[in-house]
Amino acid sequence: MTDQNHLRPLIAANWKMHGDMSWIEKLYEFEDIFPAAERVNIDILICPPAPLIFPMMERCGGKDIWLGAQNCHADENGAHTGDLSAEMLESVGADYVIVGHSERRALGETDADVYAKAKACARAELIPIICVGESLAQREAGQALSVVEAQITGSVPEIADYVIAYEPVWAIGTGKVPTLKDIADMHAAIRAQLGPDIRILYGGSVKPANADGILSVPHVNGALIGGAGLQMESLATIARFAVERK
Ligand code: PGA
Repeated sequence: MTDQNHLRPLIAANWKMHGDMSWIEKLYEFEDIFPAAERVNIDILICPPAPLIFPMMERCGGKDIWLGAQNCHADENGAHTGDLSAEMLESVGADYVIVGHSERRALGETDADVYAKAKACARAELIPIICVGESLAQREAGQALSVVEAQITGSVPEIADYVIAYEPVWAIGTGKVPTLKDIADMHAAIRAQLGPDIRILYGGSVKPANADGILSVPHVNGALIGGAGLQMESLATIARFAVERK
């Protein structure tokens, strides 16, 4: 028995820059394929492009499918053209915010930026999903564990509620995944660093074909899913594995 038994699995779809108003129908599609009775022991989260959060919130008012944003600004308001604060996202129905995704870190976001954004989420009573993960060069140099440990030290503020997503940069959108042993070693190390109460997701090319194995790894409490999360069938299949492996 592992300590993950007291943590509800979280299956999160990051839609990235995909979708328009017609995609709201995907919520109904998902609810049909994976009805409320199956969602009792799992948290399902969809992170659509920000303009879709409010209309999706209106459609799933019952709140048994959570909604999230993909980024936020650290400030509550101000002269930051084009940015969105955690408070704004909360006011339109977000429950979670992905912060420090590698696609944003690649644009120059630092651990300190991610730390400030995660703190802003807590200020707005949102749960940040704080993303960390090594590059291929860092893994090949044997530095994966130390890189991720340092990212966590720099990116995770003292807040009550947050989720970690371990996403090796080289596994995102590539179809490549680490071995289950490497995932197990990383998740055990993060667990040792952060304690028993934090959900740790794996992300990077999670698909129906590999989700069963990945979600069976100790200290994997769910998944952050890009490409496969655009298809409701795939998302439901992955979610079912998470429920079975709980
Ligand atoms: P992927 O993306 O599942 O398409 O690899 C994961 C992510 O970017 O969170």
